[in-house]
Amino acid sequence: MVVTRMLPILAATLILALGLAGGLTDNQAFAGDLMAGKAKVEATCQVCHGIDGQATAPMAANLSGQLKEYIVAQLEAYRAGKRRHEQMNIIAKMLNDDDIENVAEWYSSIKITIEMPN
Ligand code: HEC
Repeated sequence: MVVTRMLPILAATLILALGLAGGLTDNQAFAGDLMAGKAKVEATCQVCHGIDGQATAPMAANLSGQLKEYIVAQLEAYRAGKRRHEQMNIIAKMLNDDDIENVAEWYSSIKITIEMPN
């Protein structure tokens, strides 16, 4: 009895929940990559490349505004050992394909302005 009376409410709740979940996944598809990239950068890259992609050490490259394809290609090369650098080889081996995509999304999304020397 009680269950039968509650069925419409349960159905409505389920539909609402599915609707919300669907909406959230749609919206977060892009932002999720960027935010996952930011989190990874904060945890793994920031100490040398900065959260803003400005190198904190003279030999660590600036990455802000770098082309996404270039960042992905370099990280894959470090991971495969085709590009050799002691620290970056170790770091790249800790990244899966999604991590590489996400950190590249983060650094390439930082907007920079260029000024030629006078
Ligand atoms: C311990 C310091 C350190 C950390 C941490 C670090 N890097 Fe690096 N990274 C370097 C150095 C030094 C280089 C230059 C290596 C070389 O000469 O090949 C470099 C090079 C790179 C390059 C190539 C740049 C270019 O212009 O070709 C990319 C891309 C890169 N790092 C991405 C990352 C990402 C993404 C992370 C985090 C997942 C990270 N690095 C973490 C020190 C670091």
